[in-house]
Formats: sequence, C-alpha cells, structure tokens
Amino acid sequence: MTYNAAKIIDWSQNYSNFVSANRNKVKSINRWYPILEGYSNAFVESVVSEQGINQSDLVCLDPFSGGGTTPLVAQNIGAKCYSFEVSPFMSQVCRAKLRQDYHPQEFQMIVDLIRDLLEKGIQHDFQVGLKTLTKKTSLKKWLYHKTTYTSLLNIRKAIDIITTEYPKYHDILYVTLGSILVNFSNVYRDGKALRYRDNWNKKTYKKKQIYEAFLDKCLNSVLLDINSLKAGNISNLEYFSNGDCRQLIDNLENDHLDLVITSPPYLNSRDYTDSHMIELWMLGHVNNYDEVRTLRKKTMRSHVQIKWEDIPLPKSKILQNRLIDIMVFEDKFWNKSIPNMIIGYFSDIEDLLFKLKFKLKGNGKIYINVANSSYFGVVIETDRIIEELAINLGYIVKEIRLARKIKTSSQQYGEVKWLRESVIVIENTP
Ligand SMILES: C[S@@+](CC[C@H](N)C(=O)[O-])C[C@H]1O[C@@H](n2cnc3c(N)ncnc32)[C@H](O)[C@@H]1O
Repeated sequence: MTYNAAKIIDWSQNYSNFVSANRNKVKSINRWYPILEGYSNAFVESVVSEQGINQSDLVCLDPFSGGGTTPLVAQNIGAKCYSFEVSPFMSQVCRAKLRQDYHPQEFQMIVDLIRDLLEKGIQHDFQVGLKTLTKKTSLKKWLYHKTTYTSLLNIRKAIDIITTEYPKYHDILYVTLGSILVNFSNVYRDGKALRYRDNWNKKTYKKKQIYEAFLDKCLNSVLLDINSLKAGNISNLEYFSNGDCRQLIDNLENDHLDLVITSPPYLNSRDYTDSHMIELWMLGHVNNYDEVRTLRKKTMRSHVQIKWEDIPLPKSKILQNRLIDIMVFEDKFWNKSIPNMIIGYFSDIEDLLFKLKFKLKGNGKIYINVANSSYFGVVIETDRIIEELAINLGYIVKEIRLARKIKTSSQQYGEVKWLRESVIVIENTP
C-alpha cells in the first residue's frame, strides 16, 4: 500500500471541550467517580450522530473503556456497545455506571445500615500490603495518617458486610468510597502522577469527618442520580468485560461492529496502575506486588514499568524514522526501555487494528482519540503513525481531526511548544 497522508482538518472549535472529561465532572452518574483521562459524553454523542444509521441499530465497541463513557452514552441512546477495561477498579466504575436496576429506597436503606455499623464502632481487619500506606520508621512520607486509613477501611468493611445480602450495590458503594480516597490522602493527582500536598504532615482528619464525607456523597450525589435513572431498552453491562482488550477482542463475532469509539492510553510513559494505585490497594483489587506486576503486564505498552523484549517492528516508515531520531539521544535516556516502549505501543495498536478488520462490518468505522508525544525534542506523531499502520492494513483513513493543541511542560530538550491531540477517522473496506 502506498501511504498518502490525509489532510489534518481543524475541528478544534467543536472538539476542544469534547475531548476533555471536564464537562462530565458534574454530570449525573459521571460524578460518582469523575474521570480525568477520558473524553466527554458530548464527544461520543457527536460521533454517533454523524453516522447515517438509526442510532439504536448501531453495534459499537470501546476496547479501552476507562470510566465507561462510550458504553454509557450508547446505552442512553439504545445502542449496543461492547466494552473492555483492564483495570479492576475502573471496571468497577464501568459496571456501577452501566447498571440500571438500582432502587432508591433500597439504596437509602443500605446507606442507613452502613451508617449504623459505623456508629456502632465497626473495626476492619484488612491487611493492605502497599509499603507507603501509613507511617513507619523506615518511611519519610506516607499516604495516610493512621485515623484516616482506619476510618476509610472501616467504611469498606461496613460495605462488605451489608452488601453480602444486597450484592448489586457492592460496585456502586466501592466506587463512591473510591471517589474520596485521594481527597483524604496526603497526596493529590497531578496529571497521572500522585504528589504530596504542601503541609501534608499537619493536615489530619477525624473519623466522623471521613464517615460523613462518604455518607454525604452516597445521599447527595449517588442517591439523587439513582432517583432519576430510567432503565433503557438495552443493558451494555452485559457486553462489558474486565480484562486485556488485546485478547478479549478475539471473542467478538466477525463482521459485527458498526462503530469503534475509543481513546487508548497515550504514549506518555505513565501507567494507569500507578495513577490508580490508591484505589487498587485500598479497595483490595491488588493484594501484593506480584498482582500489581501481573496487572501491568496486561496493560497496553505505553509505559516503561515492564521490560518487553523482541517486539516485531510495526509497518510504519514514520515510526522507523522517529526511532532513528530518538536514538541520537541514547546517552540521555532516563530509562533504557524507551525505544521498546514506543515499538510495543504501536505494535499493540497494529495488532488491534488487524483484529478489528475482521470484527468490523464492511464499512464499519473507527474513531481514535489520541495525542502525540515528544521525547528529547523528537515528536512522535502518534496520529500519523496510526494512519500509516491502518493504510498498510487495508483501511481508508478518512480524516485526521485536530481536536486541540496541548501545551507541553517546559521541555528539557528541543523546542516543542505544543502537541496535537486528534481524532483519527478510519473506515473499513469491504
Ligand atoms: C484514556 S483511558 C480511556 C478513557 C475513556 N475513553 C473514558 O472516557 O473514560 C484508557 C484506558 O485504557 C485502559 N487500558 C490500558 N491497557 C488496556 C488493555 N490492554 N485492555 C483494556 N484496557 C486497557 C486503561 O486502564 C485506561 O482506563
């Protein structure tokens, strides 16, 4: 296949707000656990509305579901949507949001039962193995002061006890607890990293404050949203799976999908396992460092946390050239695995596009929201490389849409002032 680059069309007027999750923060349901790294409902709605098909006839997929924006919007318009998510915590967020059979009175009663247990002085018996969790003589910094940590885990214990009889409320209550875990910790989320707050050592909370914050969120956000929830004709919960999309995709029927809307992790060397470390450990999704490693191995290769060897080079000339450019800075690499991470990332994308070719209907479409990256002043044009990979696999790339320009932080090398965030529109060929 010869590679002819598609024009980059400026969609920033429409898309600059859509590709950020900010608009979703205060929205009903999305506010249960606001997602930082996602796009908004409006983005999915706009993609769906430009398809010339009756919306409820669409069969969609989001292989990187994150907080479940794509399957949730699809569910609201009555469209079937398969979705996959590797993180057990984010999967819990997806399941909680996609469920439609909550009863407000029952939820209120469950929250009252949890309150009773907390007031009676319930004491947890969890052993959380994260080394930096609480104060130890070997540590200079720790994530929680003792009372905070104990109070949060007491809430988890109360949820476990009450939901043995009402299991369908387990996910939604864990997600609500998950949503206050970082607020009460000694760190804050800065992008995907966790950083210690100023004066973290002096700021402490009382048990009652923490219990009230949880109960308040249950009653003043979650219950209100459950009250106005209307079950639709389709339940995308049935089509959601927790696991590695690179494997799960094989279970889909061939020639079945109309539309893929997705945003894979960006090639920014960060692992979501780190950014959600507190939720993963505190809610018992991982119990030891072997489990963390196993989870990391299942994630897309956008980070350097795992060493990947012998990865076949994806079919992209642009990628090959950028790798040559980057190797000039080899002595400055802060991690030797950077080139392998880059190769692994595009190898994963290539593999997914290859598999999707069979799963999509003849004219099925893929919308991928990504941002470009820069290493040592060398810009990795992720959108262009994905375009080349798609063309080599026999797809038509309809458009690359500039969604917004992302300002780069002070660059150590080179003069990269901004990076393109875009939406690549790809069409299958029959
Ligand atoms: C950019 S986020 C998606 C956000 C989503 N569009 C939203 O609006 O909430 C990418 C997600 O891909 C997930 N992920 C990474 N590797 C994966 C894999 N191999 N299989 C499935 N999900 C994966 C990450 O855990 C993360 O939640």
